[in-house]
Amino acid sequence: MHRFELREDLQVRSSLSDSPSAMARWLLQILIISSLHLISPSSQQETRFVYENFSAQENLYLDVNATVLPSGLLQLTDASNNQMGRAFYKKPIQLSSSGPLSFSTHFVCALMPKPGVEGGHGIAFLVSPSMENPTAQGRRYFGAFNASTNDVFAVELDTIWNPEFNDIDANHVGIDVHSPISLDLASASYYSDKKGKNESIKLLSGNPIQVWVDYEGTLLNVSIAPIEVQKPSRPLLSHRINLSEVFPNRSKLFVGFSAATGDAISGQYILWWSFSTGRGSLQRLDISKLPEVPRPQAPAPQAPPPPPKAPHKKLSPAVIVLFVCLVIVVLAFLVGVFFRRRKKYSEVSETWEKEFDAHRFSYRSLYKATKGFSKDEFLGKGGFGEVYRGDLPQGREIAVKRVSHNGDEGVKQFVAEVVSMRCLKHRNLVPLFGYCRRKRELLLVSEYMPNGSLDEHLFDDQKSALSWPQRLVVVKGIASALWYLHTGADQVVLHRDVKASNIMLDAEFNGRLGDFGMARFHEHGGNAATTAAVGTVGYMAPELITMGASTGTDVYAFGVFMLEVTCGRRPVEPQLQVEKRHMIKWVCECWKKDALLDATDPRLGEEYSPEEVEMVMKLGLLCSNIVPESRPTMEQVVLYLNNNLPLPDFTPYTLGIGTFAPVLVDAASLVVSSASWRLSGPSLTSSSNYSPYAYQTTTEDQPWGQTLDTKNSLHFVAEPEKPKTQTFTPAVKAATLPAEALESNLSNISNQR
Ligand SMILES: *[C@@H]1O[C@H](CO)[C@@H](O)[C@H](O)[C@H]1NC(C)=O
Ligand SMILES: *[C@@H]1O[C@H](CO)[C@@H](O)[C@H](O)[C@H]1NC(C)=O
Ligand SMILES: *[C@@H]1O[C@H](CO)[C@@H](O)[C@H](O)[C@H]1NC(C)=O
Ligand SMILES: *[C@@H]1O[C@H](CO)[C@@H](O)[C@H](O)[C@H]1NC(C)=O
Ligand SMILES: *[C@@H]1O[C@H](CO)[C@@H](O)[C@H](O)[C@H]1NC(C)=O
Repeated sequence: MHRFELREDLQVRSSLSDSPSAMARWLLQILIISSLHLISPSSQQETRFVYENFSAQENLYLDVNATVLPSGLLQLTDASNNQMGRAFYKKPIQLSSSGPLSFSTHFVCALMPKPGVEGGHGIAFLVSPSMENPTAQGRRYFGAFNASTNDVFAVELDTIWNPEFNDIDANHVGIDVHSPISLDLASASYYSDKKGKNESIKLLSGNPIQVWVDYEGTLLNVSIAPIEVQKPSRPLLSHRINLSEVFPNRSKLFVGFSAATGDAISGQYILWWSFSTGRGSLQRLDISKLPEVPRPQAPAPQAPPPPPKAPHKKLSPAVIVLFVCLVIVVLAFLVGVFFRRRKKYSEVSETWEKEFDAHRFSYRSLYKATKGFSKDEFLGKGGFGEVYRGDLPQGREIAVKRVSHNGDEGVKQFVAEVVSMRCLKHRNLVPLFGYCRRKRELLLVSEYMPNGSLDEHLFDDQKSALSWPQRLVVVKGIASALWYLHTGADQVVLHRDVKASNIMLDAEFNGRLGDFGMARFHEHGGNAATTAAVGTVGYMAPELITMGASTGTDVYAFGVFMLEVTCGRRPVEPQLQVEKRHMIKWVCECWKKDALLDATDPRLGEEYSPEEVEMVMKLGLLCSNIVPESRPTMEQVVLYLNNNLPLPDFTPYTLGIGTFAPVLVDAASLVVSSASWRLSGPSLTSSSNYSPYAYQTTTEDQPWGQTLDTKNSLHFVAEPEKPKTQTFTPAVKAATLPAEALESNLSNISNQR
């Protein structure tokens, strides 16, 4: 008996459009096949079909969410969550033991991403003994598999990276048997004959992609390519597999597709599908007839509405809101970072500063040098700013003082003077390197002094006491520095705040005069009458308030300083008994009793020359004479200290010697009423205008003379706000001196007259 081969040649569309010619062709084919069969008998039924589009849905089995769109597109999933679509060719392809199974298929699919969300999960071409699989799962199982073994062979186009399935990336093609763990897989790409190299393809682009799956013998080839490209000459995957072993005991197999989405979503479509078993050739693809793939709406809210011709997927409003929020948050963050950074390193610079550029440090470099002004680098806090240690890139150690100020008044002059100070060169001055200016802040950069300030060594019991020779070296060094400032530099420089806490010690324990914050410059031969009455109580010469600062007032302060170093105490110590309270007076009293050495620092021990100590003390008294004309010049002081000149003749009873003089009491008019102090304001006011950096002398909780406790560095003070009250502070303090002290001063002086 003859067995008729059934050969199907379904061309869904054409069979409908021109049925007479199709019918004729079909009859002809039956005849040819019948005759062929007579020549080469075969027990295998061949299957051959093509879907140019899926409108007719002929022999199509659709499961779950799969549907055919009016355009003829087979939609496996639309762009929504947790979808799963399966579609099969209804008729089984035959597997028989007599001939080896072979098939070829060529299809066009499209995976359309949805803007703003992750796309997934992908499409699979399936070969399975059953069209139905109610236990198949969505998401990463493509609607083809579940967590256990399934009787399915699949070629997957996977757009999610699932490391648990040994995926290599989120854009790959794989061959799966019974489970989604691929036997073989490769990143989506194709071999371009033209270019002679692999070109990668983005599966999730929405563009149509051609896929070929060819199986013959035991070799399975998979190729993909963009729509405009011919089938590549080299397959992407070529894997040895025996499908008869994959599906033992099965004589019927179905072919189809499945796809799934989860939280990751994309529209997943089949546009065209041609299939053939045996050696039957495949229908050629006609690109122009492919249905259009719907594109989802753009997420931009202000975008013009898309043309209405194609049905568009609407983005859910929640997603749009989320996306916009995200963009706003990211922008806000970036703007914040930008401004923070700008603010962090911002500086103020004006045109007049151009000439000082060489002395200017960038805030960024200082910030880095001090490790962001970290606590570890903190050296001390003064009344006006904090001091930090820092390392410059060249290995130079610096001290940076941050001085806050509230206005721009006087800043120009300050900077000019900072720069002039750079020109001062003397081995007993703390070298100033430069400055930096910020909106409410000035930063002064000077050399770092490793051994701190002198007053720590004098008054801090934790530190080892300085020996007499060390102290003498410091005193001589500072005398020499002051002499240089008064006469040796281009201009007369008045330091105006000589005291132990402004003397730094370098590594060799040389004294270095620092803190030029109140220094004033004037021409040689000129006078500095306009300078403010500033300084530290206890070191301020009495004539300061009426005459203003002069070299003489520096000498006075230096005299107090010499006594301070020798006696190891501060000029005024209110907690002591009355006769010792004021240092100058106490030293003088000792001298009167012919026991000058009683006033020396007990920590000096025995290791000193009494002659030297006495000479320094007497010189201290001479310099702190309240009569300015009786004081020596700094040049003379240096000569006396080096024994190049004998001290002039004077006794503790000499006029003006040993008189403690609060700043506002001068030799001429011993008592000045508080009213007249205020009346003396004009000189103060004018000088205050001149100097925005009046000095804050004492605060309520600080003992006399101990104005700043800054360590290791510059002492610079800036207080442009309320300069009047600041400069008046010493006056008010002076007025609150014990009446007894003033009276005794008075009697001292009148006695001598
Ligand atoms: C997975 O599917 C197979 C059939 O394909 C079924 O026997 C099995 O129970 C399913 N497993 C789960 C966990 O659903
Ligand atoms: C698979 O590809 C190889 C070349 O890589 C080719 O030799 C073989 O014929 C192909 N097999 C099929 C079934 O296309
Ligand atoms: C191209 O891709 C194939 C398949 O993934 C691979 O075997 C081959 O080495 C690749 N060739 C080049 C030049 O990358
Ligand atoms: C494939 O497997 C079947 C069943 O085990 C076997 O009969 C057949 O010879 C195999 N084909 C090849 C080419 O090895
Ligand atoms: C003084 O500084 C030097 C150099 O840094 C250091 O070796 C020495 O220990 C310091 N002396 C004191 C008393 O701090």
